[in-house]
Amino acid sequence: MTGRRKKDKAVLLALPPHQEQQQPSEKANHQSQGGETKKANPFLRSWVWKREHRPAVDRFKKPYLHNITTAGGSPRTLVIHQAPFSTAGFASTVWDSAIVLAKYMERWPEKVVGKRCIELGSGCGLAGITAACLGAEKVFLTDFMENLPLLEQNCVANRVMEVASTVPLVWGREVPSEIGDVDVILATDIMYYDDAVKPLLATLHALSGHNPHILFAYGRNRQAEETFMRALERSNFCMKRIEEEELDDVYQCVDVDVFELQLIGHH
Ligand SMILES: C[S@@+](CC[C@H](N)C(=O)[O-])C[C@H]1O[C@@H](n2cnc3c(N)ncnc32)[C@H](O)[C@@H]1O
Repeated sequence: MTGRRKKDKAVLLALPPHQEQQQPSEKANHQSQGGETKKANPFLRSWVWKREHRPAVDRFKKPYLHNITTAGGSPRTLVIHQAPFSTAGFASTVWDSAIVLAKYMERWPEKVVGKRCIELGSGCGLAGITAACLGAEKVFLTDFMENLPLLEQNCVANRVMEVASTVPLVWGREVPSEIGDVDVILATDIMYYDDAVKPLLATLHALSGHNPHILFAYGRNRQAEETFMRALERSNFCMKRIEEEELDDVYQCVDVDVFELQLIGHH
């Protein structure tokens, strides 16, 4: 891979939870008394930012604040509004795999810079909004119609409306014509019920006319994993695991996997 960003290799000591408002590299770099930088184990490092164990107020009430370095190299804090748990509950909080994928894209911005992207099952939209801030040419953030107001609020709050649009898209149904060809499909934590697997694969096929790279992350909500993997074996998608060395040093964790999928035999 080329264009890898130079990363601050400083590694972290464990921090207590609820300190997500700052970049771990700012907060957690730590010199021992002897001046030697210590490294926490991966589990403790991920504890700094993981949210799925947090109280409801952090997950459904307060906005999630996510620090990134944008396309122009400036630091920026994304404000991702969340909402009380309801029938749209899965869509109204930011899931850990969205954070892992957002940080992966930040590390490898060439994955999205200048690209036409679509996010499936966007929820609060962290991955799509990050792609827009990193320099994607266009990002369609999609979900059920009833989940679009929160998504729209987040696009407006983060001033990405020039590049990003929210579009209703239910997996397995016709893809709205305004979406057209895409280069990248973003999907985080959308593999959580068996009934969705077939329509989801149908949508991935329908969007694969331009042979997009599919960046697919999933975490604890992996109830449909077996069904999805079996369906994938029967389909023409190949799947490559993104290894932990390629993920952000800090924003990765043992319960989130990231894959890149692509339709085979498409050139
Ligand atoms: C667990 S949430 C993940 C949200 C977001 N991607 C994240 O990682 O923070 C799953 C999302 O998929 C959406 N979703 C579930 N089934 C869907 C379907 N059949 N068609 C479209 N969106 C769907 C939900 O509304 C929800 O926003």
